[in-house]
Amino acid sequence: MNLKGRSFLRILDFTPEELTYLLDFSAELKAEKKAGKYEVQQKRCAGKNVALIFEKTSTRTRCSFEAAAADLGMHAVYLDPSWSQIGKKESIADTARVLGRMFDGIEYRGFAQKTVEELSAYAGVPVWNGLTDESHPTQILADFLTIREHFGRLKGIHLCYMGDARFNMANSLMTGCALMGMKFTSCAPEKYFPNKELIVQCQKIAEKTGAVLEFSSDLNAVRGADVIYTDVWVSMGEPEAVWEERIRDLLPYQVNADVMKRAGLQCRFMHCLPAYHNTETGVGKDIYAKFGLEALEVTDEVFESSQAIVFDEAENRLHTIKAVMAATL
Ligand code: CP
Ligand code: NVA
Repeated sequence: MNLKGRSFLRILDFTPEELTYLLDFSAELKAEKKAGKYEVQQKRCAGKNVALIFEKTSTRTRCSFEAAAADLGMHAVYLDPSWSQIGKKESIADTARVLGRMFDGIEYRGFAQKTVEELSAYAGVPVWNGLTDESHPTQILADFLTIREHFGRLKGIHLCYMGDARFNMANSLMTGCALMGMKFTSCAPEKYFPNKELIVQCQKIAEKTGAVLEFSSDLNAVRGADVIYTDVWVSMGEPEAVWEERIRDLLPYQVNADVMKRAGLQCRFMHCLPAYHNTETGVGKDIYAKFGLEALEVTDEVFESSQAIVFDEAENRLHTIKAVMAATL
């Protein structure tokens, strides 16, 4: 398998074999790091330079790219658009051609998917999508590595996504599940189901891989699920004004003890994080003051339970992002 020179923009751009290769490579790099084989990792991309552009905030993705670059013997430059020319004085196409002359690879987190596509079209070096409104492909690799570690396989695993499935996380999870022959359920009010065009594309893939895609507003859809997955109800870049409607519509789909009980003891809870599970955050405090809710998409009880594997997922961001860079550079 040779992915040298490829960008990593959407899960949909990769075959099941390529995704399996990236997951196997992630596991290898994880084992290598745990075994303390520092010098082996350092040689993998020694002397290379990568640029990391973040138009939205980040903890996991930025830290994973920076730590992975250091582990691989690379130097990473963090670009905060408010302190660079990007967008204001220089177009994406020009920025891409400049950075492509200086760096071996570029990570981009921002708003429209078309921006990361444009960067990739002009840069002449691999571009990695660190999240757009439409997709979050590196997160899916971490999630699938985590599922493989806990269940030993992906094929046939039933992942049920609760909440707003129209944004980056559910889009990418549904695509990943379709490619890897899994069962994907979107459990939410109908207006929160994923984009129809993407559903049609994924259904075509599912016909070949044996995946099952299901859309239901009935909470019983969680029964027997291996994984209950959720994400914030309001994503980065969305206006604060949408909170009220989201809370009203999605509170019945909050991942709480009842949902986990309906799913069964085999079920694990996953979340890309950050999560609003208590009032220990600025947003959590504001929501509590305004709506009297101590938790949003997941209760603290579920988040802190032994069924939650969210920190395994977070750790796997590092190993999978490392694999994406090392495979494509
Ligand atoms: N899951 C995720 O992408 O986290 P960050 O926003 O902290 O990067
Ligand atoms: N849907 C969330 C994912 C964060 C990792 C957002 O875009 O804010």
